[in-house]
Amino acid sequence: MKNKETIVILDFYSQFNQLIARRVRECNVYSEVLPYDVSIEKIKEINPKGIIFTGGPASVYEEDAPNCDKEIFNLGIPILGICYGMQFMSYSLGGKVEKGSKKEYGETEVNLDTSSPLFEGFNDKNICLMSHTDLVKELPNGFRTIASTSNCPIAGIENKDLNFYGIQFHAEVNNTVNGVKIIRNFLYNICKCSGDWVMSSFVEESIKNLRERIGNKKVLLALSGGVDSSVAAVLLHKAIGKQLTCIFVDHGLLRKNEGDEVENIFRNQFDINLIRVNAEERFLSKLAGVSEPEKKRKIIGEEFIRVFEEEAKKIGTVDFLVQGTIYPDVIESGKGKAAVIKSHHNVGGLPDYVDFKEIIEPLRDLFKDEVRKTGLELGIPEMLVFRQPFPGPGLAIRIIGDITREKLDILKDADYIFREEISKAGLDKELNQYFAVLTNLKSVGVMGDYRTYDYTLALRSVCTTDFMTATWSRIPYDILEKVSSRIVNEVKHINRVVYDITSKPPATIEWE
Ligand code: XMP
Repeated sequence: MKNKETIVILDFYSQFNQLIARRVRECNVYSEVLPYDVSIEKIKEINPKGIIFTGGPASVYEEDAPNCDKEIFNLGIPILGICYGMQFMSYSLGGKVEKGSKKEYGETEVNLDTSSPLFEGFNDKNICLMSHTDLVKELPNGFRTIASTSNCPIAGIENKDLNFYGIQFHAEVNNTVNGVKIIRNFLYNICKCSGDWVMSSFVEESIKNLRERIGNKKVLLALSGGVDSSVAAVLLHKAIGKQLTCIFVDHGLLRKNEGDEVENIFRNQFDINLIRVNAEERFLSKLAGVSEPEKKRKIIGEEFIRVFEEEAKKIGTVDFLVQGTIYPDVIESGKGKAAVIKSHHNVGGLPDYVDFKEIIEPLRDLFKDEVRKTGLELGIPEMLVFRQPFPGPGLAIRIIGDITREKLDILKDADYIFREEISKAGLDKELNQYFAVLTNLKSVGVMGDYRTYDYTLALRSVCTTDFMTATWSRIPYDILEKVSSRIVNEVKHINRVVYDITSKPPATIEWE
């Protein structure tokens, strides 16, 4: 995949590094985030159409301020510096940067010189997000000012001969009106990109590359039914057909009917070589009597790998093992260390004893939204492509306390009703994660003339983009009422339903 039309984003510790990369890709140009101190050889090897220097919290005058090889300015490649990136470029090329004493932050009216190709199609005033302490005070030779504000006379710079540009504000964030258009102008007017990054060509190219790399060898994949492993499976299947074997370990802790749905889609719709292991008994017996959440996770994680290994051994030696790694997992930030670990609580890891020679990571270059687009391109049903995240340990961490088959069945039925009503109300795409939790609490109720003493079920729903913070969803009362009355009427052993109105923080999304 080397030397496809690429924009390199040099990360100077920006909190927006991934956002810039995504904006570029939204404009149909492939982008890669690299740490600021990446070698010049690496950049030459990629031969990008353009380079973007990100912002960052440092000041160019700090002793250990991040800086890159100055040779970058001699490559003849267009550069756009954003915030610190602009200051760094100006300072490196002989301009002066003034050390600011206080931070300027907020949406600010910026005067733009619309004769610059960077601001083509703009009005001469635009609201932009300024966030900086230092400022460019004197331009380097050959540059001119193309943007200014009342507090910041040099808010944008240009050297048309060298194709070097800088902006003091953040074009990548939504607070900057039409910010993406500035990025698009850089890509198309200045870097002369052709815009060949579309998912259909990604699919085509990946299939070709996978075929070349795999030849007639054997490939193994652990299918969970989640978006990433599903897309990886179908992509590989399109490339190498029956040379691919998928192992689907059904630990019995999936949502109602989910195991059968996964099997049906992959075996019947795609005709993929699928081994489904029904291991519910095995997991439930290992989990019997265990109430501590982290212990549940550990048991499930370990058992999962054990089952997978046993099945893999039956197949014998395989040549390749597929991993569903995606781009945010592999981005090396300016902090200089690779973030290769998914999340602290992900089930699994690499099985130690599976006999394979190499790992294939077909989605390594993609952001999550691109994985979904690829899924649609491959004909995977929408209900799978847009499915909400589901934790590896499954319903085990949504049954508070110890797990029994009875509790599992109660939860599956209640959760099913909740999901059904949300989907009927057309809210399923709006709510980012929603599910039921079987609390360990029993309380008194009355049904007809009888006193009941049964479980309390909690409903949880959140709106979030990153799952690190989340707000509880304002689901309309009439929908909550419908869900509640259906659950107490249709699911035995639940006599009370509550709705969780806590955001994250302080609560987490899952209850365990
Ligand atoms: P919390 O509960 O930490 O959840 O706010 C944040 C996101 O992570 C998911 N989650 C998990 N995913 N294994 C997973 O694969 C786990 O053990 C696990 N625990 C939480 C959770 O569903 C939410 O999307």
